[in-house]
This record gives sequence, C-alpha cells and structure tokens, in this order.
Amino acid sequence: MRIICTHCKTSYNVNLVNIKPEGIEFKCAKCLQFFLVKPHHLQQIKPSILNNITQLRKSDMGTKTNQYSDDDNLNTLLTSVVDDLKNYGNRLNDQLSKLSDIGIALSGVTDLTILLEMIVDQAREFTNADAGTLYLREGDTLRFKIVQNNSLGIRMGGTSGQDISFPPVELKETNVSAYVAIKGTSVNIPDVYETDLFDFTGPKNFDQTSGYRSKSMLVVPMRNHENDVIGVLQLLNAQHMKTSEIIGFSKDYENLTESLASQAAVAVTNAQLIHEMGELFDSFAQVMATAIDEKSPVTGGHIRRVANMTLTFAEILSKNKDKYKDIEFNSEQMHELRIAAWMHDIGKVTTPVEIVEKAKKLQTIFDRIQYIDLRICYIIEQMEKDYLNQKIQLLEKGETTEKISALESREKAKREKLIDIRGFIKQCNNPGEFLEDEKIERLDEISKMTWKDFDGNEQPFLDDDELLNLSIRRGSITESERKKMQNHAAITLKMLKKIPFTKKLKNIPLYAGAHHEFINGGGYPLGLKGDEIPFEGKIMCVTDIAEALTASDRPYKKAMPLEVVYRILREMADKGELDKDLVEFFISEKVFNKYKEKHETNGR
Ligand SMILES: [Fe+2]
Ligand SMILES: [Fe+2]
Repeated sequence: MRIICTHCKTSYNVNLVNIKPEGIEFKCAKCLQFFLVKPHHLQQIKPSILNNITQLRKSDMGTKTNQYSDDDNLNTLLTSVVDDLKNYGNRLNDQLSKLSDIGIALSGVTDLTILLEMIVDQAREFTNADAGTLYLREGDTLRFKIVQNNSLGIRMGGTSGQDISFPPVELKETNVSAYVAIKGTSVNIPDVYETDLFDFTGPKNFDQTSGYRSKSMLVVPMRNHENDVIGVLQLLNAQHMKTSEIIGFSKDYENLTESLASQAAVAVTNAQLIHEMGELFDSFAQVMATAIDEKSPVTGGHIRRVANMTLTFAEILSKNKDKYKDIEFNSEQMHELRIAAWMHDIGKVTTPVEIVEKAKKLQTIFDRIQYIDLRICYIIEQMEKDYLNQKIQLLEKGETTEKISALESREKAKREKLIDIRGFIKQCNNPGEFLEDEKIERLDEISKMTWKDFDGNEQPFLDDDELLNLSIRRGSITESERKKMQNHAAITLKMLKKIPFTKKLKNIPLYAGAHHEFINGGGYPLGLKGDEIPFEGKIMCVTDIAEALTASDRPYKKAMPLEVVYRILREMADKGELDKDLVEFFISEKVFNKYKEKHETNGR
C-alpha cells in the first residue's frame, strides 16, 4: 500500500495489517514530521489512485479533469480531498519555505538593532499580525526592544530612531510575556478581553487611550541553542488574509512562530556574542593603550590622537564623491580600523621608556649632563686649588707681582675655557634640527682632553658613549636607539598576529603593522612597497607622521606649525615615502583641522 506524508508529500510503500480505527502515526523520513494514516484512507483509495494524486502534486496540475473512480460520488469526494490536501500542502510548503528563508536571512544579520527589528517584521508578516513586541531578557526583567503596531503607525526601537520609554517588565507570572519567559512555553489567546488568566490591564488601558482593540495574542519564548529563554516575541491581532478581520492565531502559526522565535533566538545570541567579541577587542585595545599611557604618557597621547585622526580621515574619505568616490568605510570596517589604530603602536610596550621619551641626548634613565657638569666643576675646583697652591708658593718665595699676575691670567683663561666647554656641552645636549660638522669636531677634541680623578688616574673629558650621544646630528636618539625604537613596528606585527581576530577584524595586524611602511619600500618592518601596503596602512602612515610633527607634548621637540607640517608631508610624498594623493587629500580637505575640532576641542 502507498501512503503519503501530509507535510512534504513524500510517498511510501508499506504493508499495513490490522490498522486500528484511530489510525496509525508515521514519521516521515524526509521531513521528520509525524502524519496520521486512518483505515478509510487505505480502504477507499486504490494504490493507483494514490499514485495519481502523487503525480498530480508533483506536477502541480489541476484536479478537475481527473477521474479517480468510476463512481461519481466517490470521484467528487476524492477531488475535494485532493484539493484540500493540495491547498493545505501548498500553504504548509509556502510557510515552511518562508520560515526557512527567514532563518537564512536572520542568520546573515549580525547587527542586533537591525536583527531584532527584522524578527518582528518577519513574524508579523508571516502570521499577518497587526502588532508585535519583542523583549530581551535582562537579569530579572524583560526589556522592550521593538514595539510595532501597523494600524496605529507605531514603530519604536530598532532602526526607527524612536526610543522606547516603557519601563522593563518584571518577571511576574501575572504578566503574559513574563509568564512565557519564566515557563518557556507559548501562550495563544483568542481574545485578551475574554480571559482572566493574565493581567491585561496595561493593554486595556492602552486600548482606551488609543482607540485600539487588542484581541488575539500569541506570545512565544525565544529559546536559543542552549535552551535558555533569551527573550519573548509577542504578536497581537492576527488578521484574516482576505477580510482583514481579527482572528485567533492558528495552531499551525503557533508552531511555526515558535520555530521562527527559536531561529531568531539563535541569531540574537550569535549577534550578541559577535557584538561582545567586538567590545572585547575594543576594551583590549583600550587596556593596552592605557598600559602604554601609564608607561609613557607621550606614547599614550600619540596613540589616542593617531586613532582619532585616522578615523576622521577615513570618515572624510568615505564622504568624498570625487577622487575617492569608490572608498567607503562601513561601520564594520570603521570598527576594524579603529582597533587597528588604537593598537598601531602596541609594540612600544617593549621599547625602553628612556628611548621613547628621550628628551636630551645624554639621557638614559636620567640626564647624564649632570655627571659631565659635576665633572667639569670638579676639574675647575681642582684647577683653582692648584692655582691657589702655586700662588701661595710664589708669595712665600716673594716673587714679583708680574709673575703672580701671569699665573692669575693663565688660570683665568683656563677657567674661562672650561666654563665655555661646559656651556657648549650643555648646548649640544639639546636635541636640535641639525648639529654642524665643526661642533662635532669640537666635541671630538674635547673628548680627547684629560683630567685626573680623585685617585690620580687620568680620565677622558668625555667617554665614548657620551661623545656618541652628544654628536647626534638630528633629534635625540642614536642609531642603535633608533633601531630599538623602530623595532616596535615589528613587535606590533608579531603581537597582533598572535591574536585570533575574528573574520571581520582579521586585517588589524596588516593595517597596524604597516603604519611605518613607505611607498618606495624604504619603510619598516617589512619594507613593503606600493600596493603591498594596505590603503588603511597608508592612511595611518600619514596620520602617524602628522601627529608626531604637530604634537606639543614631545620632550625633545616643539609642535610645528601646520604649514611646516604640510611642507614636510609633501617632501616625504615627493621622496616616494608617503602616498602623494593621500597627502594632498589630507591637506586640501583640512583633515587635521577637522580632527582637532572634533576630538581636541579642549586643547592638548
Ligand atoms: Fe609606530
Ligand atoms: Fe605611532
């Protein structure tokens, strides 16, 4: 005998003996749903006829022209059964396919605001409900997230821009939504005015003030993959498809809405997890920036300013409809760029702070100029002592005043020379734009001078490291210190590559690690060239330098005027270091001014 699944219309050949009057339940191997087969189905319908029905369903042809039996009465009956079955099957099929479409659509949305609104929209459309409310569970309350009422033109929450001011619903069983959240079961009420199972004072009061009439209500739990009820979906006033008359929610709709709510719950949980993960990365980036800020406020300030300037730059690029009309950063890309910018100098946690904040050329953990200064003062004191001893001897011998005056003059000249050297070294200790050759030669000569220490040992005026540091031509750091400093970019890349970023944040190491790469390949840490450098890296390269030049908190330099900054940026672009178009865009679009206006209104 042949039986047909009433849900998906798959047919099966079975041997049925002694079927009971109440029928027998089968589970369809294809759609996994149960369907009932009663004796009269088998007795009255010949296998050939059933086969015809199956064929008909498959081909979706009409039934009017088909003859199932020679008996007219039986033929009419069968035609009616087939029509009903066909309509029911089609409707069910449509609903299932719609449900499946909704499930697919929901799973693709990770923005919670859009997702929650989409769930209510889809559930209302699916059940033809006039109104819908979605609550999410927060602790011991249900918080309104979406409120919609088509007849009254109400759309609140989600992307509507209308905030929901209703207080959260306490989890008390007298409230129908709270009951559903607590019990995890659905409630289907044909008319809320005809039941005293729950307290509907709220909807009734609302009806009085709005002129609305709340009637049928379907409230289903949103149960996620861990079986937790994370929210409640409440649908109100199902409307007849043709007449728009308010009707009750059918059992079919109840089951299908439960399925929809479960799929929605999983999608919501996913979206929440993705959102939390995004927030986790955000906080991680901030924590790292705080750690760097504690170690070196100069670097902390630099990171914050580069991040804000980079985002301002990206926003302006996104809005541009001219040269960069194809560049647009969506919210996810902005999030990725924001974290990359906040983490771009994360490698500086390993850079010694005395290098990062080296204010004077002789600075290590303190400024060694004090040593040299004390040394010169000691030399002067010693010289003074020698001079006085010699003078005493001359006086004791009764030498002429000319001889004594000559001694005084020599002593005065020596002292003036040392005072001059002291001032010169102090001057050289200041990092400057450029240290001329003659000054470097003079430092070299000074370093070769000697003096006797307390134990009588001869010592150089300046040791090798002091000479090396004082002879730095530009800035305050030596070549080896520069290498240690530049190493932060390689460390940034190394550290970020260890973090298992999610798919949407996967470019963070790439962007952050490229902020010192130059178009001509002369940058670091990888020496990337041209298009090997991501666009985001090129942006950060410009903002990183612009910040460094404009910053007023660097102990080794003053803030440069914007015209000078622009000149340096253009020079770097001409040398093939920075992206020329981006530099020109940065200047012409006044990115720096706009960033400062937006983020640094209180000044630095
Ligand atoms: Fe850097
Ligand atoms: Fe930087």
